[in-house]
Amino acid sequence: MTHKGTVTLETERLILRRFELSDAEQFYRDIVNDAKAVQYSSLGDYKSVDEVRLAIETWRERFCSTEFDTSHQFAVEKKDDGVIIGIISYIDLSDNALLGCNFGFKWWNNGFASEATDRLLRYLFAEAGFFRAEAEHSPNNSASGAVLRKCGFTYIGDNEYGGNRYAILAEDYFE
Ligand SMILES: CC(C)(COP(=O)(O)OP(=O)(O)OC[C@H]1O[C@@H](n2cnc3c(N)ncnc32)[C@H](O)[C@@H]1OP(=O)(O)O)[C@@H](O)C(=O)NCCC(=O)NCCS
Repeated sequence: MTHKGTVTLETERLILRRFELSDAEQFYRDIVNDAKAVQYSSLGDYKSVDEVRLAIETWRERFCSTEFDTSHQFAVEKKDDGVIIGIISYIDLSDNALLGCNFGFKWWNNGFASEATDRLLRYLFAEAGFFRAEAEHSPNNSASGAVLRKCGFTYIGDNEYGGNRYAILAEDYFE
């Protein structure tokens, strides 16, 4: 494993990068405070810009962590206008990474989540040395399953709460 923490990653349309405290207001307004965008995630637990700012402070403390079970959060910024359109994350479970993402409703169905997920997988497998990635989503959230399948994940069953679990091996990603 080559732990690098939360690094900057680039795709054709997106930059995945560390959150800055100055991101809090726009991130809260466009994503966290939108009930539709956060209906399947815990982001809706943050009830104000100040709470988001505190969360970002915590995330920033973990950016360089190499410890087991650490969660790494990336702001997903659109290159053409510099707006944050979502968040993507992974939890370091040693050789295994647990992925999650959440995008602002007005940007759904433009391929952004798939583009960001594919880039994060490439980083985790090619640069950081993870050998497997996992993700879970609510059974009501079909778009999330579509993103995971597009990125090469396979459905592996349900968790104890009925959530759909997916996984991908590094060797299958590179096939
Ligand atoms: C799930 C989510 C991340 C998708 O983001 P996105 O940027 O719209 O994703 P993409 O545009 O890359 O792909 C969406 C796919 O879902 C499909 N889709 C959209 N709505 C759908 C629905 N109701 N049922 C089935 N598939 C659907 C789209 O057709 C597309 O697949 P395709 O390219 O094969 O046609 C976004 O909707 C979101 O943030 N949801 C709330 C949070 C969340 O659910 N996070 C995932 C848990 S980890």
